[in-house]
Amino acid sequence: MRIIVHTGKGGVGKTSISAATALRCSEMGLKTIVLSTDTAHSLGDSLDMEIGPEPIELRQNLWAQEVDARYSMDKYWGSFQKYMVAMFTQKGVKDIVAEEVTILPGFEEGAHLLWIDKYVKQNFYDVIIVDAAPTAETLRLLSLPDVTRWWLERVLSLTKGAAKFLRPIAKPLLKTDLPDQAAFEAFDGLFKTLDSVRVLLSDTSVSSMRLVINPEKMVIKETQRTYTYLSLYGYATDCVICNRIMPDEVNDPYFAQWKDLQKQNINLIGEVFGELPLLKAPMFDRDVNGIDTLHRLGDILFKDHNPTDIMFKGTTQQISKNDDGNYQLRVKLPFADKKDLDLYRSADELTLRVGPYRRNIVLPHALWDMEIGDAKFEEAGLNIQFVAKPGAEQQR
Ligand SMILES: Nc1ncnc2c1ncn2[C@@H]1O[C@H](COP(=O)(O)OP(=O)(O)O)[C@@H](O)[C@H]1O
Ligand SMILES: [Mg+2]
Repeated sequence: MRIIVHTGKGGVGKTSISAATALRCSEMGLKTIVLSTDTAHSLGDSLDMEIGPEPIELRQNLWAQEVDARYSMDKYWGSFQKYMVAMFTQKGVKDIVAEEVTILPGFEEGAHLLWIDKYVKQNFYDVIIVDAAPTAETLRLLSLPDVTRWWLERVLSLTKGAAKFLRPIAKPLLKTDLPDQAAFEAFDGLFKTLDSVRVLLSDTSVSSMRLVINPEKMVIKETQRTYTYLSLYGYATDCVICNRIMPDEVNDPYFAQWKDLQKQNINLIGEVFGELPLLKAPMFDRDVNGIDTLHRLGDILFKDHNPTDIMFKGTTQQISKNDDGNYQLRVKLPFADKKDLDLYRSADELTLRVGPYRRNIVLPHALWDMEIGDAKFEEAGLNIQFVAKPGAEQQR
């Protein structure tokens, strides 16, 4: 079983690449499902077939699904939400407001995670390809189990007191006997499912994140942030896929500057993502839709390689918390010589230069107010300590 998640900024080519990867896997004889989680679905257009909120078999070994957040939400969250709405309404909150506040934060984007759990338990598919929503939502969704825990604690502490008086009125309100026990069990089930998905997605022998980018500075910079947060949450990225590279044979002077800029930006990709393998796809002479262009895209991307291979093991950067409450950032720097090390830091970025080698790292929020203590080369990497500024309140 393999789970491959494509993420990146809107419009870079996630859907096209997910569809091309899935098509190729299916033709290798692997039972493959591709799920799109972007609310602006275009997977159906890309495959040039009608698909819906439940999986549809498109051709041999290939299934596709456009996950509908509302549909998934009702399916998995409906009974608990009904209970909550009833409770808030009873307390004088307007219906519509009650509906809104009982929507679990991040859940609209996160509902598709629940499908992954289902497919893994069914054990029918060999490969699950996820075409994930644009960056910010994807990140929120990946931290969802934590958000859920937070939310659960707040809401349950609110409802506990209410449960006593709520029990007798639940029945007429909901027109069904919904003891709080059942609702809480439903919630508990949901929470466990989310947590098991999080465990699956952080199992590096099963799941890989693939960052889809274009050779454009803004896109690279934003995706760099995604990369930092993915590694922070413990999700392994196994490659970067750069789409829409202007082919060499385009010689029209109109595109000369574009091509130059793209070359510079491809160098920047190396500085930002370190040793992560880089897969490249050209800007085609037409949009990517239908089986023929998806074949072309898959051939160029993977050549003779198996798309389900784990393309990179380990991490190029890792952030961990020490026992003393300080943090350590470890950056893999093979072949580096410490004599040549330069380190520049702004609030949220760190640039390392070791001889001709440069690495640029976006720091997570937790490190913004900390300062760099010690930096040491150990086991083909640089370990940088982040310590609380003198006088700053010690972080938990
Ligand atoms: N390499 C490419 N060459 C030409 N058109 C492309 C290429 N990759 C994607 N497209 C087109 O660009 C548009 C956006 O791609 P899409 O895969 O839907 O991006 P995303 O899912 O990241 O929003 C689509 O119309 C698609 O056909
Ligand atoms: Mg898309």
